[in-house]
Amino acid sequence: MNILVVGSGGREHALVWKLQQSPRVTKIFVAPGNAGTSALATNIPISETREIIDWLKSNPIDLVVIGPDAYLAEGIVDKIQKIGITVFGPTKAAAEIEWSKSFAKNLMQEEGIPTASFKIFNNFVEADSYIKHRQFPLVIKANGLALGKGVIIAEDVIQAKKALKEIMEDKVFGKAGSEVIIEECLKGQEISVHAFCDGTNAVLFPSSQDHKRIFDGDSGPNTGGMGTIAPVPWVTKDQMKEIEEKIVLPTLQALKKRGRTFRGILYPGIMITKTGPKVIEFNARFGDPETQSYMRILDADLLDILIACSEGNIASKQIQWSKKYSCCVVCTSGGYPAAYEKDKVIKGLDIPGNNDIVIFHAGTKTRGDKIVTNGGRVLGITAIGNNLSEALSSAYASLQSLSFSGMQYRKDIGAKSMGRNQV
Ligand code: AMP
Ligand code: GLY
Repeated sequence: MNILVVGSGGREHALVWKLQQSPRVTKIFVAPGNAGTSALATNIPISETREIIDWLKSNPIDLVVIGPDAYLAEGIVDKIQKIGITVFGPTKAAAEIEWSKSFAKNLMQEEGIPTASFKIFNNFVEADSYIKHRQFPLVIKANGLALGKGVIIAEDVIQAKKALKEIMEDKVFGKAGSEVIIEECLKGQEISVHAFCDGTNAVLFPSSQDHKRIFDGDSGPNTGGMGTIAPVPWVTKDQMKEIEEKIVLPTLQALKKRGRTFRGILYPGIMITKTGPKVIEFNARFGDPETQSYMRILDADLLDILIACSEGNIASKQIQWSKKYSCCVVCTSGGYPAAYEKDKVIKGLDIPGNNDIVIFHAGTKTRGDKIVTNGGRVLGITAIGNNLSEALSSAYASLQSLSFSGMQYRKDIGAKSMGRNQV
């Protein structure tokens, strides 16, 4: 089979790396890809939905796999289906669970799916008067996609008012801010849950945990994600079962009931609170860097699974995961998540003789015989081990030989989960 993977991040490199191990794969193309994917597949230098549809009309592709959320919100899946090609990912209507937070919150409220209590506003004056009588901290969110930046945790009424003004009046997130959600601030530990979904059934991955803030100790601004571990050693089977039964399956049923059958990855961000797991947000795609950790411990043919989801028969698949622990430490350009420079030569990418380490590329490109930086998140260093500590030690040891000017990474990925075992 010929596959097209859409996207250019570490997630897409990890998906290509795993797909390429499937005996049924003939050729993999990536649009637009990065220096890492070019070593395993053929990069096609296109990234607009229109260009991708045109390219698909003249190339024999059997399956398209969509990485980034923006394509789903644009309806790329509906457009690919229209030209008769199988595609892994939800339709625009099903993906609304990610691209509209108000849609997701209303659906959870109507279906009794556990989430933070909330109120939705599209009028600044009303929102401003509401915050005067609330307890703090309070979470203020722009409704639409905002590159992971549209969420402000306000510590007091002054910060809350400033956030409302920026989102609703100054429109710093553009159209994404025409509505805001003001919600209760949940306390607890945040985890990522992924499920392969075929419209009706879901098969959950092991748990994982991202580290979204730029600096150690979960400080500084939010990023796309600075590193992950999988599984999370203290998350219990019972908690995962509860998430499956109270969150993932009811959400699939709710979407189906509304004529928005969801096929693809449902990825709820979950807060494990004292009163049980609650949804922070829904994503309708593979997480990044979660996927970089996950692909290292998936002991099954990814292509088979993706096709089973698209054809509606995931329930018939046995999906094996390795017993190992996996981690990913993301290296970013200096200055990220604010402005950063590109074109820095990356040194030390070949780590000889260590199969426990795989480096996935994100913002990289080739320049002559060199690989140079080309984005904020540059590389994901993944490692596996018999326990979390082993995986993390390998990843951090291999980082010693990698370098590019301005390189930064968190030194504490997984640290808060070390020594915390299942109870
Ligand atoms: P989101 O884009 O909705 O995932 O929000 C980004 C980040 O803000 C999340 O990963 C959480 O760390 C934090 N966050 C969002 N909503 C809440 C909430 N209701 N309570 C606590 N933290 C939240
Ligand atoms: N790991 C964060 C995301 O994929 O949205």
